[in-house]
Amino acid sequence: MKKISLIYHSGVGNTKLIASIMKRILEKANFAVYFKSVEEKIDGAVIAESFALILGFPTYHAALSTSMKQYLEHNTWLTTLYKPYFVYTTYGLYPANSLRTFAKLLKEQHLFQFTVASIEWLPPMVFY
Ligand SMILES: Cc1cc2nc3c(=O)[nH]c(=O)nc-3n(C[C@H](O)[C@H](O)[C@H](O)COP(=O)(O)O)c2cc1C
Repeated sequence: MKKISLIYHSGVGNTKLIASIMKRILEKANFAVYFKSVEEKIDGAVIAESFALILGFPTYHAALSTSMKQYLEHNTWLTTLYKPYFVYTTYGLYPANSLRTFAKLLKEQHLFQFTVASIEWLPPMVFY
């Protein structure tokens, strides 16, 4: 079974909700999904052996969330993997340049050749 890593940050739950929906769809398509929040202990070896990496984060103050930024800064090896990356953000009204900033950060970390598909997703809101 092919493995996909899905790593997300979610402050209130919207980004996690979208991640859960993706997980369900991927599992139906016979992928084994390694599903982790950046706040959990993450096994880098599992990510390394995954076929692809999905990263999801909320837009906070027109930028990617600090937790996801810090996760990437502490795990620069992630960007040396040769595999497809899929990046998404959830937002309330206007995502500004959060995905572009994210892509720039990946490039600054010497990301080798990679594929990024991205989507700005206005999800069903979690009440808070
Ligand atoms: C501190 C804070 C800042 C936010 N800034 C923005 C913003 O600049 N643009 C936007 O469209 N939504 C903004 N939002 C809304 C969130 O992006 C949106 O609710 C998102 O889906 C939250 O994801 P989460 O539930 O996974 O934390 C902000 C929310 C918070 C709490």
